[in-house]
Amino acid sequence: MTQDQRDEAIAFQTLLLEEGLCTKKDAERRLEEIETSLAESDSYTLTTLECTHGARVAWRNSIRCIGRLFWKGMHVFDKRHVQTLEEVFQALEEHIQFATNGGAIRPAITLFPPEDPTTGTAPFRIVSHQLLRYAAYTNDDGSMLGDPMNLSFTHECIELGWKPPTPEQRTPFDLLPVMVQTADGRRHLHELPKELILEVTIEHPDSKAFSNLGLKWYAVPIISDMVLDIGGVRFPAAPFNGWYMETEIGARNFGDKQRYNQLEAVADIMGFDRSNERTLWRDKALVELNVAVLHSFKKAGVKLVDHHTAVEQHEQFERLEAEAGRAVTGEWSWLVPPLSGSATSVFHKEFDVTEHKPNFFYREQVDNRASSASNASSSGCPFSS
Ligand code: ARG
Repeated sequence: MTQDQRDEAIAFQTLLLEEGLCTKKDAERRLEEIETSLAESDSYTLTTLECTHGARVAWRNSIRCIGRLFWKGMHVFDKRHVQTLEEVFQALEEHIQFATNGGAIRPAITLFPPEDPTTGTAPFRIVSHQLLRYAAYTNDDGSMLGDPMNLSFTHECIELGWKPPTPEQRTPFDLLPVMVQTADGRRHLHELPKELILEVTIEHPDSKAFSNLGLKWYAVPIISDMVLDIGGVRFPAAPFNGWYMETEIGARNFGDKQRYNQLEAVADIMGFDRSNERTLWRDKALVELNVAVLHSFKKAGVKLVDHHTAVEQHEQFERLEAEAGRAVTGEWSWLVPPLSGSATSVFHKEFDVTEHKPNFFYREQVDNRASSASNASSSGCPFSS
């Protein structure tokens, strides 16, 4: 047993106690159990309650997330027992179906088997950044079709045997298969059934021509390449979702130069004067793109939040956290919306960037963990005194 593991387990049991999820007696008994298990096998198994609360707190602790007000409502699917790839793909499909819910998006997370701390490997890890992703292709003239963000991932899918549509049939929005890596390092693909995936066609409330841009987006963002850490137990396969904020799609996915790069096309279709920067045609195009995303999701009956409401919800989250006696953390550059930032309150605040645990980490952060400091308490066992 390493001191780290023990400290992390203690810190998590302390959190459960502080948050009223167990009594002092329960916590003491549980820690003894964990100590024994760590001594015997260098690992311990989280209870269902620990997994559920731990995953929700990981959301609460996500300093880049503006939607954290809803952390207590996240549905946790416990799939720690799955053994085969087929079961993994089945569970991912169930997650998508549950989360999509015909447009009434439900926040959810699916926990697959955790890492074995002695070997640092788990039976499965999801390679896809999100479960739903659009392919990117380079045309002969060097231009690109699709989402440039996924170019190398698309290549890897093709190398692994994914058959992209023929060049004539390709669209900017071809869904890619999901990629999962097994413990032996091999990567496997799974094509998701079309009927499972809800997409929204983007139109503008006042401009018929806007539809000619041919834009659409999927309803549910399901981040799948992060590592969840609960009490020192690491889950390298723990896909989670909330619902979208409109700027993620309208400002970033469609507006960014290195993504769908639609500002010029939008300005032209809306008749904005692009002859010089001082007409603010870029800014106007951004606003209209976001208007279109809000309008289209509403029309399709798909839940999505606008950035002003999301910031208000975050303010409420900040108040509730303060009331609960917890310090609010956050990362300014991620919390401030990419549109009209200064018209929202978060712009005018400062945030503490401490990443408390449980939390979600990037793969690279976890791989570099030897050199990174842990947030776990190192003050020894608070229950044994
Ligand atoms: N920004 C990412 C995207 O546009 C999704 C990140 C997670 N977003 C969320 N609302 N939970 O696909």
